[in-house]
Amino acid sequence: MNKLTVRDWGIENKTVVLRVDYNVSFDKQGNIIDDTRIRFTLPTLNYLLEKNCKVVIISHLGRPKGKIEPSLSLRGVTPLLAKLLKQKVGFVTDCIGKTVEEGVKGLKNKEILLLENLRFHPEEEKNDLEFARQLASFGDLFVQDAFGAVHRLHASTVGIPKFLPTVAGLLLEKEISYLSDAIENAAHPFLAIIGGDKVENKIGIIKNLLNKVDALIIGGGMAYTFLKSYGAEIGNSLWEPDKLDLAEEILRLAKEMNVRLFLPLDHVIADKIDPAANIRESEDIDIPAGWIGVDIGPLTIDRCAPVIKQAKTIFWNGPMGIFEIDKFAQGSIRIAQLLGQATEKGTITIAGGGATVTVAIRAGITDKVSHLSTGGGACLEFLEGKQLPGLTVIPEKQCIP
Ligand code: 3PG
Repeated sequence: MNKLTVRDWGIENKTVVLRVDYNVSFDKQGNIIDDTRIRFTLPTLNYLLEKNCKVVIISHLGRPKGKIEPSLSLRGVTPLLAKLLKQKVGFVTDCIGKTVEEGVKGLKNKEILLLENLRFHPEEEKNDLEFARQLASFGDLFVQDAFGAVHRLHASTVGIPKFLPTVAGLLLEKEISYLSDAIENAAHPFLAIIGGDKVENKIGIIKNLLNKVDALIIGGGMAYTFLKSYGAEIGNSLWEPDKLDLAEEILRLAKEMNVRLFLPLDHVIADKIDPAANIRESEDIDIPAGWIGVDIGPLTIDRCAPVIKQAKTIFWNGPMGIFEIDKFAQGSIRIAQLLGQATEKGTITIAGGGATVTVAIRAGITDKVSHLSTGGGACLEFLEGKQLPGLTVIPEKQCIP
């Protein structure tokens, strides 16, 4: 990664505005359901504290559309952050204005202040320059560590760098080195496992990875469009008629590029998409009339297992079935576990995308992959080869003054 990072800048004793992605969800008791995004910012935070910095943290949470929405307050993140850092974390009820100015003024070295949800102000998503200027006025340096948000053209991604020197945090650096270097210079065989419900959402990433990988496993809801184009019976499974051409094109390209492509050979099938559905295994590739494919079956898992074991690099994005319903989650969980085992044997494993992280948590492998990306849309856009505006504005290493 050739962007400037916190390590390239003389940050001792500075006041740092740190953009993180604390877009997490809470259960009814207010507990954070998945703390990955918070835990993964600890290396940057600890680094800044070691360097005697004052740290002003900014983030978005959810999509409150420019209005104050108490259920989307970042205050709920403070206790966990304080526990993880083993120190007090201050909180202010806004992200601009007098209270924040006073809060920042009162900060001592090695102290942390978390500001309220940026998206309570419509100016954040409008990339309003005056809003960005106010945020920038709270520090001497801007550290961008919110990989999950760098695909957005917002004040806290592209606005602040107009007013402050900007560098990447350690999480952003790690994300880019795995999603870029590890994939561009992958050890072979390189396997991609792509799931999820729609061809439409994954076509960019599949096309971009096809000329890099040796094998591609396709699962999840989008597999039914591929199976349809292959001529299989798919019963009542959901599929995208207008994406049949694209699926055919991918099958053809994979063949031309000598990529071994694996589609489901069998399925868990259900009579409805509901926790109370009747389910059974299809036994072969065809799905009987009236039934819906909801997960990959045991034959498919057996077929994929050696491919996963042989790979030296694996990128995984997207569940293999409708994992939100327990009965339909086993295929996704099994694939995740196989990934965990591959990592133990030295394979570089990278898992990314919102639902993928949820499956990784359920399968207990969040710490058993080489890298778990904190980006949802950002991870997909990055791997589609798109320019991410919040990354573009971070200067390259050769720009050190
Ligand atoms: C995410 O959850 O992918 C990031 O936090 C970005 O959130 P957004 O899609 O609401 O911009």
